[in-house]
Amino acid sequence: MRIDVLTIFPEMFPCWLGSSILKHTIEKGLVDIKVHNIRDYTHDRHHTVDDYPYGGGAGMIFKPEPVFKTVEAVKSTITDERVLPIIMLTPQGRLFTQQVAGELSAHRNMLLICGRYEGVDARVHEHLVTDEISIGDYVLSGGELAAMVVMESVIRLLPGVLGSEDSALEDSHVAGLLEYPQYTRPPEYRGWKVPEVLLSGNHAQIAAWRREQAIRRTLERRPELLEKAKLTTKERELVESLKNR
Ligand code: ADE
Repeated sequence: MRIDVLTIFPEMFPCWLGSSILKHTIEKGLVDIKVHNIRDYTHDRHHTVDDYPYGGGAGMIFKPEPVFKTVEAVKSTITDERVLPIIMLTPQGRLFTQQVAGELSAHRNMLLICGRYEGVDARVHEHLVTDEISIGDYVLSGGELAAMVVMESVIRLLPGVLGSEDSALEDSHVAGLLEYPQYTRPPEYRGWKVPEVLLSGNHAQIAAWRREQAIRRTLERRPELLEKAKLTTKERELVESLKNR
């Protein structure tokens, strides 16, 4: 997969790109991330990317020309004919979930635009972007961290990225449940013991225990997720009995 990121703060990316899993993924050629500085596509002496809002009001607005110019320049280097999502990171976008990550991971290319300041000229939203994504109901100063969140969750779904193909399937949210608790050695730490069943070597029992823990944890922390989770009749009964306690 190739991902092009458009930003006025390209210096925010190298540290993240050089970090462990991502670095190996890039070296293996599974993903190619290109960061573009929108300021490089301005033609005035000061490399202006923003201006005052028409009609007045606080803050500055991203001008349309540099954003259109950067997207057009990047698009001209993409030879793949398949659909190219042009995604703006903005608190006004649709909410990013594991499901959206899965949807995006099926594309060959995607282009992410990091908004900044108080907003972006509406013509960019109306005539350039094909999708708008928010990573949550809170406001960041810009879309850069949101773009990294989106990329990281999409990239770990690409085939070959994780050591074991199973590990992505067991993640929280994949099956609509939170993940069960995990333990490693030692079997006892400060008097706190690892649940006996995990040391038993009985795989069926371990799987059943984990499934029940995932359901209990989801009910406790994110009960609204259970409405959509795929549960057996028996598991639904368990949920009801736990609720009535
Ligand atoms: N830019 C600012 N806040 C954001 C958010 N919550 N999600 C995506 N992009 C943003």
